[in-house]
Amino acid sequence: MTQSLTLRRPDDWHLHLRDGAMLKGVLPETARHFARAIIMPNLVPPVVTLAQAEAYRTRILAALPKGAQFEPLMTLYLTESTDPADVAAAAASGLVKAVKLYPAGATTNSHSGVSNFDKVQPVLEKMAEIGLPLCLHGEVTDPWVDIFDREAAFIDTILDPLRRRNPALRVVMEHITTSQGVDYARAGGENLAATITTHHLIINRNHILAGGIKPHYYCLPVAKRESHRLALRKAATSGAARFFLGTDSAPHVDALKEHACGCAGCFTATNTMPLLAHVFEEDGALDRLEAFTSLNGPAFYRLPINQATLTLVKHESAQIFPEKIFTEAGPVTVFNPGFPVHWHVEP
Ligand code: NCD
Ligand code: ZN
Repeated sequence: MTQSLTLRRPDDWHLHLRDGAMLKGVLPETARHFARAIIMPNLVPPVVTLAQAEAYRTRILAALPKGAQFEPLMTLYLTESTDPADVAAAAASGLVKAVKLYPAGATTNSHSGVSNFDKVQPVLEKMAEIGLPLCLHGEVTDPWVDIFDREAAFIDTILDPLRRRNPALRVVMEHITTSQGVDYARAGGENLAATITTHHLIINRNHILAGGIKPHYYCLPVAKRESHRLALRKAATSGAARFFLGTDSAPHVDALKEHACGCAGCFTATNTMPLLAHVFEEDGALDRLEAFTSLNGPAFYRLPINQATLTLVKHESAQIFPEKIFTEAGPVTVFNPGFPVHWHVEP
């Protein structure tokens, strides 16, 4: 019997589209299945002002394939010199839906991020006042903290104090990877949510490191041990309003992934929806996939849910995903789940 599942069209609440030739190559992969996405601002130079966000949005719209229906939801990259008035104007424009905070040095293109949190307090106060969400890359950057402990340390030493100081601030813990992240998000009340990526539901750190190093599974925050992956699965498949999809699809050309100092990022835009259907079916939660991909995110961001739908069909034959997509910037390897996937998105 063929199984089929129709959902409200999904949104991606954390996406890297890059710019130029890479943007042109990867955007169709997301626009094929997703109606909207929160666009990460970590370009070089970063998207810091409303004017830069408007210009980037125009470049994204220009790179869309003909006929595609896709709305980029823009973010501003928070720096220690961000002007609260510019943030307020950006929110009022309707184009900017969040501000992204990278601790300086935490990940790809984060050197303009925040080191001294006191310096961004006036911006956070303005955001709390106007209800604009803060998207947080939640890892400490202290080189003495073990990389596998950086998320838990961030929650204790930065996130919790920051939220106590700004109780009205609406916060999204981006791409959580630990049971501590799950527990903190679950207990956080109305003003707190968390995104979970596709790949963190599928891989643990053994996939990266056991039996030879697999650079295409390396991303930040790095995948943790199996017990954490299981906690993420439980959270995502629970349907709880706190948790929604942010793929963190983060393309880098193969030459920079397969490198002595390889870039962090997994590229999942191409196959996220079939992979999620597989994961949710495995956990007996297909009826909660729509909450995770299409309902909980808009509710937190106070946006309408999509009217259009997406249908997934389970076939006898496994789907063959492309191994790579070929952009004019170079080839980008598509995330390989390591198991056959029978769910296909209906054209
Ligand atoms: C992202 C990137 O490449 O921009 N990389 C990643 O591993 N997730 C940055 C980020 O979100 O941390
Ligand atoms: Zn990211």
